[in-house]
Amino acid sequence: KQSVKLVAGNWKMNGLGASLGEAEALAKALQEQAAACRVALCPPATLTERMARVLEGSAVELGGQDCHAEASGAFTGSVSAGMLVDAGAALVILGHSERRAGFGETDADVAAKVEAALAAGLEPIICIGETLEQREAGQAVEIVSRQVAGSLPDGLSGKAFAVAYEPVWAIGTGLTPTLEQIEEVHAAVRAAMVAKLGEGGRVAPILYGGSVKPSNAAEILAVAEVGGALVGGASLKAEDFLGIIRAA
Ligand code: G3H
Repeated sequence: KQSVKLVAGNWKMNGLGASLGEAEALAKALQEQAAACRVALCPPATLTERMARVLEGSAVELGGQDCHAEASGAFTGSVSAGMLVDAGAALVILGHSERRAGFGETDADVAAKVEAALAAGLEPIICIGETLEQREAGQAVEIVSRQVAGSLPDGLSGKAFAVAYEPVWAIGTGLTPTLEQIEEVHAAVRAAMVAKLGEGGRVAPILYGGSVKPSNAAEILAVAEVGGALVGGASLKAEDFLGIIRAA
């Protein structure tokens, strides 16, 4: 019925130092697991190349967690989309709520980064999602629709990309929306994508993210218009991440 799902693990700022051996072990476990879905790992930028070597020859794809909107220049501390490609990445997470909240990224900033990612040949995973306050005020659908309209550049039609719906209050909290709430928002996100991109807006998968774990992955991934998962905490443990991949 639906095309193959995408399960992406976002390691955030984890996987360094003492746990690097663990990170490599997890990557190897992924490599050995035959999956019915697409699997991507998004490590911190400095680990990309190392993970690319570990994953060489496997179907597991690599992604960045952010990139700059410019291709190069005087932007201390930043990484460009092209640099991620050089390091072995095929995808990049953009507009994660931790970047929107912690670094003041706006929808327009995210759209500019999406353009840069596409220009470098990366597949962007564009994150959107409402806060608890917005959810409680009954604004979830309105907020995500506005984020889709503002964060997806016009040039996206026909390109490979994904949108990830991550309710901010579900990230790292163990809380998840009900399946009905997920279905409602994903339908609204799809409608906003079609409003923005025309028929081209029907193709890209809409991932769900926020406290996905092996025990809830199957039911969430079975919801209409859920085309995959963006996994944080559970992507750091091989057992948990593999459990989610098996459910997809
Ligand atoms: O990018 C991933 C999300 O922020 C979800 O994180 O699975 O730890 O709730 P979580």
